[in-house]
Amino acid sequence: MRLDFPPKYTETIGAVKIHSLQKIYEIDSGCNFGTTSQAYNSLTTAFDNDTLSQIFQAMAVVIPVKDEKLSLLEGVLSGIPNECLIIIVSNSQRHPVDRYAMEVEMVKQYSLFSNKRIITIHQTDPNLGRIFHKINYPSILDHNNQVRQGKAEGMIIGILLSKLHKKEYVGFVDSDNYFPGAVNEYIKIFASGFAMSNSPLCNVRICWHSKPKIANNKVYFPKWGRISEYSNKYLNDLISYITGYERDIITTGNAGEHSLSMSLAENLDFSSGYSVEPYELINILEKYGGIISNKSVDIRQHGVEIFQVETRNPHFHENKGNEHIQGMLQESLNVINNSKICNTEITTDIKNHLLMLQQKDSLSNIKSNDKIILMDPIKTIEIDKFHELVVDSPRLLKQFNIDEK
Ligand code: GDP
Ligand code: CO
Repeated sequence: MRLDFPPKYTETIGAVKIHSLQKIYEIDSGCNFGTTSQAYNSLTTAFDNDTLSQIFQAMAVVIPVKDEKLSLLEGVLSGIPNECLIIIVSNSQRHPVDRYAMEVEMVKQYSLFSNKRIITIHQTDPNLGRIFHKINYPSILDHNNQVRQGKAEGMIIGILLSKLHKKEYVGFVDSDNYFPGAVNEYIKIFASGFAMSNSPLCNVRICWHSKPKIANNKVYFPKWGRISEYSNKYLNDLISYITGYERDIITTGNAGEHSLSMSLAENLDFSSGYSVEPYELINILEKYGGIISNKSVDIRQHGVEIFQVETRNPHFHENKGNEHIQGMLQESLNVINNSKICNTEITTDIKNHLLMLQQKDSLSNIKSNDKIILMDPIKTIEIDKFHELVVDSPRLLKQFNIDEK
């Protein structure tokens, strides 16, 4: 993969480096040229297939699933390079139709043909709730001691299982993607980001080339969705306020496709549900930006590098309707608004925006002062104890092509 390098500019906030959007010139730039001059020119750098393969081997790809079409999920699996460990965290319905059982059956069949290593788990399995209770991680549980609904909750389970498998990197891809080729590109971007990073604390975020839409019998390729337009705006307002310079560096506020090095992932708080992606940026700034004092993290040791890369493939996923989009936008704006690093002027703008959304949509149930549900960093979990309890629950995981050692 060949892409802009070094990035055109970088915003530095405390120990956080946010790099501007990087463009891809070759999705596949050949194999095995190591560090020869073929790799570099003054404007771009290429990572050969061997370099990417090494990183794939250290990477788990987590796929959150909730009641998606099986054919879409299978397509997504087919796009993931073979070296990656795949972790499917499902919150699909169990009754009256057991959609999770259908997913497991599909994966079982698929893994016979593909030789991929795949693990599946159901988010609301009572055994999993019990394990979180036993290892004293209540922030992921609901009142019934069951794991809460939500995409972020699924992601946390995925990160923990990746850690169990000693993975250094964890990438997230949605299960409702119509183009397996796009998924393949995302994973190559993740690996290139980790290869570019000078720090073990690294976040790689995908900016879609476009999201195709059909209107009046024609295909259009708009770049920004309705949510990203606003969450990017407010995140940029916040960063401009902090640095004192007005810039539009953030293009990936709601990047569902993103990845984290394990060293960073295990240090972050995660916010519940769909607000997880913008909150990731907010939490990195809260912890490593030096804006507010934070005793739990030593920012002198390492900085955080955030890469944003624009795909060549368009992003085409399942259309979930207006209400879904409104809810997501409200959750996203709410986490920006509630951060301690958000100043009053921006807070007022966001509050007005949320008020406007509420007036437009009588179904809306999110208020600007709603409390944000946060989950503690997973480094607070004793991983050996978690491992023991998982091993003691033989039906919790379904594993395909995984060596049991
Ligand atoms: P959008 O693409 O950002 O509009 O959001 P989607 O509704 O497509 O959700 C993103 C991904 O998360 C999809 O793969 C969903 O199937 C999955 N997902 C949504 N809710 C949950 C959940 O509660 N738990 C899990 N594990 N996955 C979820
Ligand atoms: Co989607």
